[in-house]
Amino acid sequence: MEIIYASNYEEMSRKAAIAIAQQVIKKPTSVLGFATGSTPLRTYEMLSEYHRLGIVDFSSINTFNLDEYVGLSSDHPQSYSFFMYKNLFYQIQLDPNRIHIPSGTASDLSKERADYEEAIQSLGGIDFQLLGLGPNGHIGFNEPGTQLNSITHVVSLSQETIKANSRFFTKLEEVPKKAITMGIKTIMNNRKILLLVSGEKKAEIIRRALSGPINEEIPASVLQLHPNATVVIDQSIL
Ligand code: GLP
Repeated sequence: MEIIYASNYEEMSRKAAIAIAQQVIKKPTSVLGFATGSTPLRTYEMLSEYHRLGIVDFSSINTFNLDEYVGLSSDHPQSYSFFMYKNLFYQIQLDPNRIHIPSGTASDLSKERADYEEAIQSLGGIDFQLLGLGPNGHIGFNEPGTQLNSITHVVSLSQETIKANSRFFTKLEEVPKKAITMGIKTIMNNRKILLLVSGEKKAEIIRRALSGPINEEIPASVLQLHPNATVVIDQSIL
């Protein structure tokens, strides 16, 4: 695992945007995995800018998002689908047929999770996965305690995650209690992983994830085993 320290959020974001742009330039048909949250926002702005400048052509990529809240439709302003279209997909004018986000409103979630795994396989797997880090060490919505060999599944969100994510909702009670997420094994199968770490309350958890034992209590710790993972840390949070 490669660990890179960026001096601030802007530099972390630029490193991530450049790495993603290079991936797309090298392989225009790349399958990219995207994440939501505050951390990748500036990265998405930079990618949008590369599109506007005409220096990166995203038209042939396919995308898979990590997760979605159960119960929120794609037009709900707090759904991850809404977030991705607003902050990236509309900006880079990506054909919706190339965009894959698990549906939080599927009538049969068990089928939805199986279909999602199959869709990833049918496009040959994910070349490059961007990840953020939850304050409790979660990746995607894989909360502490999730089996390390899990594939796409439905999770009950921890109280800590519900509280952390309530900042985007008007009331704590509005935060969905469940989500559908790529599993830890699904994430580990992705060929390249780029974990971005920034924001409050991440200093202690990233230290434990990178240098502590690998176990289910800190899902991100498993990334120590990934053969092609890079972590970019905004060192202003340390
Ligand atoms: C959510 C998402 C994660 C994300 C995390 C961190 O819980 N499911 O994929 O990494 O938030 O968010 P932030 O970047 O806002 O700290």
